[in-house]
Amino acid sequence: MIRNEKDIPAPSAIPTIRSPMRDEFFSAKTTAPVAAIAGFGMNADLVDKLHPRKVPASPAQVESELFPRWRNGPIGVINFLMNHDPSTSELRELDRQFHLHPFTHHTDMHKSGTQLIKSGDGCFLIDQDDRRLLDGLAGLWCVNVGYNCAAIVEAVHRQMRQLPYYPSFFNTTTEPPVRVAEFLAKKSPARLNRTIFSNSGSEANESALKIIRSYHHTRGQSGKYKILSRSFSYHGVTLAASSMTGLPICYEPFDLPLPGFIHVPGPHPYAVQSPLDPEAYGKWCLEETAKTIQREGADTIAAMFVEPIQGAGGVIPPPPGYLAELRDLLRKNNILFVADEVITAFGRLGHWFASNLWDLDPDIITLAKGITSGYLPLGATMVSDEISETIFSAGYFAHGYTYSAHPTSAAAALANLETIESLGLVERVRDDTGPYFQQKLHEFAAHPAVSEVRGHGLIGALEVIPRLGRSGLASEPTIGIRAAGLIREEGSIVRGIRTLIAMAPPLIISREEIDQLFSCVKRGLDRLWD
Ligand SMILES: Cc1ncc(COP(=O)(O)O)c(C=O)c1O
Repeated sequence: MIRNEKDIPAPSAIPTIRSPMRDEFFSAKTTAPVAAIAGFGMNADLVDKLHPRKVPASPAQVESELFPRWRNGPIGVINFLMNHDPSTSELRELDRQFHLHPFTHHTDMHKSGTQLIKSGDGCFLIDQDDRRLLDGLAGLWCVNVGYNCAAIVEAVHRQMRQLPYYPSFFNTTTEPPVRVAEFLAKKSPARLNRTIFSNSGSEANESALKIIRSYHHTRGQSGKYKILSRSFSYHGVTLAASSMTGLPICYEPFDLPLPGFIHVPGPHPYAVQSPLDPEAYGKWCLEETAKTIQREGADTIAAMFVEPIQGAGGVIPPPPGYLAELRDLLRKNNILFVADEVITAFGRLGHWFASNLWDLDPDIITLAKGITSGYLPLGATMVSDEISETIFSAGYFAHGYTYSAHPTSAAAALANLETIESLGLVERVRDDTGPYFQQKLHEFAAHPAVSEVRGHGLIGALEVIPRLGRSGLASEPTIGIRAAGLIREEGSIVRGIRTLIAMAPPLIISREEIDQLFSCVKRGLDRLWD
């Protein structure tokens, strides 16, 4: 027990106290070079290479890192070492008092207690009870290279030391965003060469909306301002992004959508209990979209936003041919086609972009999430040459965020993208783990609690039903959330959405880990009917 200054041990005698913050403080220095030396090869164990074990801090490091704090007074050192490992109950109480959570039912959460995640490594997380959970959702569809990737940690650390921040306003830039923009241009469809950065998927879509307005305005077509999007789509949470989102829970409580945002049917026959198969239903959706364009007038519609696979709305892959026909319909009517690839880009479908996979040739692509594997916030909006040249011709472009092209976020993105490339993760998903994941996912078609299976590459969903079958769903419209809770108890995190569970694990996942994920899913679903 430390009562006064004399009881504080000398720096070299300070015991190793496990505290997440202390680990974090030392990890960037102690782990990064190991990965750099190891190099990355496809046949070796990816996780060991990506996530070398932390080397305990040496006495010399303790001295060099801790001693400066010592000089600032003993209380600082004691706080540093001891006070950053508060108990779960204390954190839960503080969380209840002070933290307003996004996308959370607060009273339910306070009753059951907030879930705490303490650390992550590869595809696994450690929770408040020191349980090791396989993260079947890659955080929020984004931690593509898994947790504790030393290459990203090191790149961020280096950039922080060199230049943590400088804006890209007023004729200035820093190196990392230029390199990221170049990387994106090389991987994206041919017409998309320029990128404006932001901080999130919502902001990437906001930037797209402003660019679209500016484009039509500059061309003397300010009357083209309406925006089309689809039911079950998710495009983010700003006023405009929520207005595009086709999920009532996201717009109704906020008295949205704003005027000029129009929803057309998305190709999800299961959710609307249509008797049509996905292909026929997709055709009907296209006819409805064409009718909407005719009714509103093509000369009033600026653009349509489309997720190639609708993610948060329930993992809805496009029926064959649907996206190409939709693109042609829009082009015929001089309506810009925006691919919201916030989830689908960077290898999730076994291609750098879904737009490449399905030859979509969009006018704009919006990006976020997997661009940094979620390590730091970054959004990106890529535009066609025609759009960027129109923007140039208009003169001053008065749009951008203080943190647009943030150099440290961009350094994280560059290290992340180079890691995805050097590990061959895109090809690995395309040729190996993606098909294996889909095979295992589709085996659930035979499970009595599963009524539909959907997916592509490393993303998938299972629609689950109660014993009563589909007719029982009306009395249990959140059975997917209950199923996700059971699967978590079995050791894996999946996302419950309405009546389904969704999965999108890190792209580094191995076949054995896919087996582990699905055995948790199976045990959880078996218990659903108990
Ligand atoms: C397709 C899509 N677009 C946009 C967003 C919004 O991104 P953010 O939460 O970073 O604002 C999301 C988030 O899930 C998304 O899935």
